[in-house]
Amino acid sequence: MNKIKLGIIFGGMSTEHGVSVCSATSIIKNLNHDKYEIFPIYIAENGKWFNYVKPIEQIEILKVGEKVEPIQEIENEIKFLKNLDVVFPVLHGLYGEDGTIQGLLELLKIKYVGCRVLSSSICMDKAYTKIIFQKANIPQAKYIYIKTDYINKKYYYIDNEMNEQILSIDQIILKVKENIKLPVFVKPSNSGSSVGIKKANNEEELKQAIIYASQFDNKILIEEEIIGREIECAVLGNEEVKATNIGEILPAEEFYTFDAKYNNSESRVIIPAQIEQTQKEKIRELAIKAFKAVDGKGLSRVDFFIEKETQKVYINEINTLPGFTQISMYPKLWEESGISYTELLDKLIELAY
Ligand SMILES: Nc1ncnc2c1ncn2[C@@H]1O[C@H](COP(=O)(O)OP(=O)(O)O)[C@@H](O)[C@H]1O
Ligand SMILES: [Mg+2]
Repeated sequence: MNKIKLGIIFGGMSTEHGVSVCSATSIIKNLNHDKYEIFPIYIAENGKWFNYVKPIEQIEILKVGEKVEPIQEIENEIKFLKNLDVVFPVLHGLYGEDGTIQGLLELLKIKYVGCRVLSSSICMDKAYTKIIFQKANIPQAKYIYIKTDYINKKYYYIDNEMNEQILSIDQIILKVKENIKLPVFVKPSNSGSSVGIKKANNEEELKQAIIYASQFDNKILIEEEIIGREIECAVLGNEEVKATNIGEILPAEEFYTFDAKYNNSESRVIIPAQIEQTQKEKIRELAIKAFKAVDGKGLSRVDFFIEKETQKVYINEINTLPGFTQISMYPKLWEESGISYTELLDKLIELAY
């Protein structure tokens, strides 16, 4: 049997470059090497494409921040891609998880794993994800959506009907106080791995958090804090979508920051989460509903909060290319459902189109 020529694109021009390197090398290590001829394609932070020229069997799992070498520049990226049967874009964040690489692969008529252009871009942009969740009537934290013009120090408040209103930062803060109470979470709309996100406990912190977030994106969400548990559910499928059991995150810091995710070994993941059965079913249903609402395909990890006081479930976000190391929640949840990491990769590649 001829092996399937599988391209693994990783690295990329996003703040989650290092996380992608870690996810992709884990995937390469766990793929069935008898079934696939693997072509690891490394995109450097400056956007240049390289072959990762190590013999596949010698590729070890790299940690966040470790260098990918030896590499050799790919002279003609399109020609290189055209030679492949299927591509797994293992890219997190902008220029990868946002529909851009998916668009390129669509144009080239190359099969690829995971969400298409539309669902990738909706889920990358937190403001637009919120709009779709709202339409689908999926409970979520209250929020305010603003745009900033960092250079000219201008702020735009976007109302429920998407009208724009120019406001001063003090007026924005007033809007926050009128509509949602402090503390709040301030997030760049296009972000991942908690980069650019801050919790603001008072007006001064809120101002600083808005200025900080606007360095990452001109679109910003200010969201009410949901005090409670952080839980996650993995989904898989194209038309027929399946959901796993529920996992819980116990961040080692005040919230699940970049460091708490990747550098603090005290952060813990509990699978399965200790949640009442009916609540679990409800979360799994919501995960599938949300995935369908954004027109998701292939895979996603759907993240929720359970509010401590009310036990109410709120959706937080959908990650169309979730962390994929051996200890990441997505493969771990499938493992708990009886599907090994290697089998999961087979299933995802089968679902590619
Ligand atoms: N509304 C909220 N209430 C409480 N905690 C939040 C809220 N929004 C975000 N957080 C905390 O911040 C983390 C990162 O936010 P999230 O929206 O998931 O962004 P990212 O896409 O970077 O993961 C969450 O995992 C959670 O710990
Ligand atoms: Mg998150």
